[in-house]
Amino acid sequence: MDIKQFVDDSIRNIKQTVGDKKAILALSGGVDSSVCAALVSQAIGSHLTCVFVDHGLMRKGEREAVEDVFNNEFDVNLIVVDAQERFMTKLKNIEDPEEKRKIIGEEFIRVFEEEQAKLSDHDFLVQGTIAADIEESGKEGGKLVKSHHNVGGLPEDVNFELVEPLRELYKADVRAAGRELGLPEPMVARQPFPGPGLGVRCLGEITEERLEILKEADYILRDEVAKAGLEYDVWQYFVAIPDFKVVGKVNDERAFAYPIFIRGVISEDAKEATWYGFEEDFLRRLSKKITDQIPQVVRVLYDITDKPPATIEYE
Ligand code: XMP
Repeated sequence: MDIKQFVDDSIRNIKQTVGDKKAILALSGGVDSSVCAALVSQAIGSHLTCVFVDHGLMRKGEREAVEDVFNNEFDVNLIVVDAQERFMTKLKNIEDPEEKRKIIGEEFIRVFEEEQAKLSDHDFLVQGTIAADIEESGKEGGKLVKSHHNVGGLPEDVNFELVEPLRELYKADVRAAGRELGLPEPMVARQPFPGPGLGVRCLGEITEERLEILKEADYILRDEVAKAGLEYDVWQYFVAIPDFKVVGKVNDERAFAYPIFIRGVISEDAKEATWYGFEEDFLRRLSKKITDQIPQVVRVLYDITDKPPATIEYE
């Protein structure tokens, strides 16, 4: 595919479709929605409003990276919604993984809906649907959806016209389009990240204390992977924290603190995965750095399970 041609054609088509009206987009910081935002902003500039819902379950630095790029490099309206507290309140005492996923998904739509209601004249909704999403959902046999669409989860009387500029692209082309549009490499090459974010990596009930530990440990892992030049070798790598403590020994005294799990996998399509064999030196360095820098962690465990029988995520 000629990506430059695709970008030029898309910008022209979006300009024609949206005209002098306005569009709204739910920006997650993931590759698809970021590329979509960059593309549509080149077409209609400040007539695009991106809504980024910060549910507090993003990785360290993620919100700032999105704000930096979309405030400084693109001419869009960016609304960042501080929703950490309302998500934490909804998730209090919830331990069941499926229930957590459901609450996070529903609350996300509710926040987006509230922001949408505050805006007028936004007749178009931009979505970063890509070809694989359509194939995977088994819908439409590859045909285009009707452009007038009631968006799942939004009130029935809200009719948006849907704009899905990436529907014919596969992931590699989406990344290429992102590069063509000038998105920074860390955003374009981003590893897969689950919709419910760190919510499914902070196992059992999500608490602020464990979420903070998780973010710090994940940040150290990402930093070490980058320093070792392994970002593109490991398909997905992350940290999970369980909801129990273990015994350790710190400064000659008994400690009762958290273990954390490190997971690194290689995969083609996430349906199956093989655990990644980090070098022994890497694992030693990582473990020491995490326990030195995060006093609440006294044990670092590396996951050596393929999918199947495990899944990539823990919940
Ligand atoms: P599992 O854990 O099922 O994950 O082996 C397979 C891949 O999907 C990602 N994942 C999600 N992606 N929404 C997403 O968009 C989700 O709810 C979700 N849950 C898991 C996971 O990170 C892995 O890449």
